[in-house]
Amino acid sequence: MSTARDTATISDDALGDEEWAREVRRWATRRDAIILAHNYQRPEIQDVADAVGDSLALSRRAAASDAAVIVFAGVAFMAETAKILAPDRTVLLPEPRAGCSLADSITADQLRAWKARHPGAVVVAYVNTSVEVKAESDLCCTSANAVEIVNSVPASREILFLPDQFLGAHVQRLTGRDNIHVWMGECHVHAEITPQDLRERVAQLPAAELFIHPECGCTTTALWMAGRGDLPPGRTRVLSTGGMLEAARTTTASHVLVATETGMLHQLRRANSATRFEPVNPAAQCPYMQMITPAVLLRSLREGTHEVNVDPEVARRARRSVEAMIAVGAPSRGE
Ligand code: 13P
Ligand code: SF4
Repeated sequence: MSTARDTATISDDALGDEEWAREVRRWATRRDAIILAHNYQRPEIQDVADAVGDSLALSRRAAASDAAVIVFAGVAFMAETAKILAPDRTVLLPEPRAGCSLADSITADQLRAWKARHPGAVVVAYVNTSVEVKAESDLCCTSANAVEIVNSVPASREILFLPDQFLGAHVQRLTGRDNIHVWMGECHVHAEITPQDLRERVAQLPAAELFIHPECGCTTTALWMAGRGDLPPGRTRVLSTGGMLEAARTTTASHVLVATETGMLHQLRRANSATRFEPVNPAAQCPYMQMITPAVLLRSLREGTHEVNVDPEVARRARRSVEAMIAVGAPSRGE
């Protein structure tokens, strides 16, 4: 994509923040590229992007974009989803090792074996899955529309929900269905936001509101505490990252405790400077999201690294479930 002269004249490490941001924007224009950044990206990456959002919003943005190149500052399953929705566009994932422990928790072979044990069941896959798993699924969802997607399945049909056990339990709770089988996968970052962390932080800040991502290991405890009155009703909200941002704009709480990856705090603090947003677990950082550094993003634009390709037949099969995901449901506002 670039010439030897282009790459040789710039030393990324020597660039100051503003110069780096100008270079990124200059190369984005030159490549006719749109930069999409997930809410968990480093603050400087979020600030330079064309769009920042949750998985659902970014998938919709990728599908609607007419840019020649989509640079996905996120993880592999997100870039693959963009490629499925925009097959004629060049999709770049700046760091190809940026995977996802949750997506790794189920393979297409495991899913085929599970389906064989439940013939006729409808497979609902969280977007945090490989393209091969999506191709074996009937419907895809994100944390923002999982309940709406499950509710779109007739009540009499059995559902296989995968791969996140905590989101699955949340969906079971909200839909009240007893015919949902849940895969016992987890995201290692969210699983480590524990009930113990939550209890300690609530004891320190008893008046705080709680925003909890449904992938968290503490979700069930938080709702149980709210149910017992240990947390006042209406102050504990289970939200996608996009839902957290909407809630941040309208909250009047002085403090909000946030249970998700800490990159999210950047958007929340920008959205509302009157409220203090604090992490439930400050160590909850996704190592894959962190791999997209400023230098890696600039190199991606300049050198066209790393192009994401999806086998066309697998993409065709995955597209049905992904298109259903972006069509169904406005982002959930939690509870
Ligand atoms: P969202 O769908 O809320 O953006 O979350 C994606 C993700 O990877 C959570 O860990
Ligand atoms: Fe995957 Fe967890 Fe990272 Fe999200 S935070 S990308 S689910 S490893």
